[in-house]
Amino acid sequence: MRSVHLVRKDDHILYSLQPNSQFQSKTTWLEHVELVHVATPEVDLEEVVLSTSFLGFELAAPVMIAGMTGGTPLAKKLNLIFARVAEELRIALGVGSQRVALQFPEVRESFSVVREAAPSVPIIANIGASQLVEGLSARAIEELVEMVRADAIAVHLNPLQEALQREGDARYAGFLDRLHELVEASPVPVIAKETGGGVSREVAKKLAETGIKGIDVGGAGGTSFARGEGLRAFVRGDALLYWLSEDFAEWGIPTAASILEVRAAASSLTLIATGGLRSGLDAAKAIRLGADVCGFAYPVLRAAMLNGYEGAHAYMRRVIEGLRRALFLTGSRTIEEFRRAPVVVTGVLREWMAQRGLTIP
Ligand SMILES: Cc1cc2nc3c(=O)[nH]c(=O)nc-3n(C[C@H](O)[C@H](O)[C@H](O)COP(=O)(O)O)c2cc1C
Repeated sequence: MRSVHLVRKDDHILYSLQPNSQFQSKTTWLEHVELVHVATPEVDLEEVVLSTSFLGFELAAPVMIAGMTGGTPLAKKLNLIFARVAEELRIALGVGSQRVALQFPEVRESFSVVREAAPSVPIIANIGASQLVEGLSARAIEELVEMVRADAIAVHLNPLQEALQREGDARYAGFLDRLHELVEASPVPVIAKETGGGVSREVAKKLAETGIKGIDVGGAGGTSFARGEGLRAFVRGDALLYWLSEDFAEWGIPTAASILEVRAAASSLTLIATGGLRSGLDAAKAIRLGADVCGFAYPVLRAAMLNGYEGAHAYMRRVIEGLRRALFLTGSRTIEEFRRAPVVVTGVLREWMAQRGLTIP
């Protein structure tokens, strides 16, 4: 049992680094969002302020390193890099699923290192929907939070991935009731987080009714867990799961559409956007559609694997500086001003909005 979980976690890191673990034909649809250029910004680039409050902290920019890993020596190294970058740049940080640390306390340190290295930024703990459905004791919830001295806990929704794993745990019946119980029992706010499938307006409404604090849309267009599972099935020679993974590899609501969906259902929830964001300009577009904070997974993981702390730091700086320039070029001094910047939506995103009755906030 132990080796299955530990090996699977490094598998995920290694498979997710393969270029074909990303969506191939479906995109985030952010390319259909055009911010209108302002030739006379009436603000100096250095004057632009990106600071944003999030979970009671003042972030230097509305940006985070999304939850990815923990549980192995490689994961510990990566978490340490991510935490140092988050602390240095004053951005938020998530950890990967802590399920393994509940089962094997000896790997707790691979998660707890993040709080030592990042004492002054918000950290989000992480557990899976299936674990919640199986049942989490009050003690286990406390343990997850204490492990990283978390400021919030994310419950990840990955029904597609679970349905494509040989050892998957595709148990979702009763989930919303369990989520409500978690909200009542948790010492910190709860966030519901998709992982590449996106969240619809209907789902966001049900999630909001449980009393959660926020939703991470985890939209389609970036990392595809179906593709990752397909690679694992191929290596194992499991033809059924390989072909099923191929069939569902492009499944999901693109990130741009999902942000609009969630915003339409839940105007006061904290909205995190992950899923295929690759630059500060992508982050700007996500914010203009209604996101509060933008999360990055695959590109910062790749940068850390290739060039360690320097690589991850350089990547996240590029994101922040890109976001600053997007505000400058739309004549916005602050994120609040930027939320009113003119925007044009084209193509398939516009069609989706028309059919679903969605508008730009
Ligand atoms: C290697 C890897 C592991 C991940 N593990 C988790 C996890 O344990 N829990 C979770 O909520 N999301 C996990 N994610 C999902 C990310 O947080 C993010 O929502 C998703 O990858 C989309 O962002 P991206 O396109 O920037 O990678 C993982 C992503 C990657 C790449």
